[in-house]
Amino acid sequence: MKLSSISIIFFFATLQALSVLQVNSQSTDSCNSNLNLDLPFDTSLLNCLPVWSRHDFILRYVRNLSNVWNFVLSAPDTNSFVAMGFSTTGQMVGSSAVVGWVSADGSGTVKQYFLGGQRPNLVVADQGNLTIVENSTSITSRSSRVYLAFQLNTSQPLSRVLYSVGQIGVIPSAPGFALAEHRDKVSTVLNYRTGN
Ligand SMILES: *[C@@H]1O[C@H](CO)[C@@H](O)[C@H](O)[C@H]1NC(C)=O
Ligand SMILES: *[C@@H]1O[C@H](CO)[C@@H](O)[C@H](O)[C@H]1NC(C)=O
Ligand SMILES: *[C@@H]1O[C@H](CO)[C@@H](O)[C@H](O)[C@H]1NC(C)=O
Ligand SMILES: *[C@@H]1O[C@H](CO)[C@@H](O)[C@H](O)[C@H]1NC(C)=O
Repeated sequence: MKLSSISIIFFFATLQALSVLQVNSQSTDSCNSNLNLDLPFDTSLLNCLPVWSRHDFILRYVRNLSNVWNFVLSAPDTNSFVAMGFSTTGQMVGSSAVVGWVSADGSGTVKQYFLGGQRPNLVVADQGNLTIVENSTSITSRSSRVYLAFQLNTSQPLSRVLYSVGQIGVIPSAPGFALAEHRDKVSTVLNYRTGN
């Protein structure tokens, strides 16, 4: 009798310990946390703002040199692509986006896409109007979040910014890296100076 009640207590204590572990491993990032990523640029000076609360997107950015801007977009890892687009009009069509994903084997891919139209064949990998600094891109999955990092070579990035997230479990693949339609998207305006 005694023994079994002790083992029941142990059982529940173990369950509780497991659930604490689970909570700790859940998606966590906020503008109060420091980035601890190995990036080709300094991450200590980045401005940080929640940019898309529905999908818990957090953007960090800073003007590095007069014509280089550093960006790190953080989002929950839902086994789908995440994208940040820059648009002259606020519309998807005509914009260029930095798109990243982490494949099942853990390898990350970051590509620019030109969004020439709504149809999949008009969304073209490795094209677009952004000047991405050579070897500046990376995407890392950590603690259930992905961190998409890149540098743009421009004196002033476009302020009309789009974010999107792909279908769960659908990862672009070679050849062509066709981008399946997003699961959700949003069009925003970013004031780089004030961070609003
Ligand atoms: C600016 O970029 C260079 C190289 O691209 C990097 O070495 C440096 O750490 C960056 N500075 C900041 C403040 O991010
Ligand atoms: C933007 O990029 C697309 C695809 O690379 C190209 O067709 C278009 O001419 C570019 N637009 C500008 C304004 O450079
Ligand atoms: C940015 O572009 C200019 C002009 O094309 C080039 O001279 C410069 O080296 C580029 N800077 C970086 C960091 O790639
Ligand atoms: C980018 O990476 C490639 C392959 O590692 C390297 O050959 C090239 O020199 C790098 N370019 C710059 C500007 O660092």
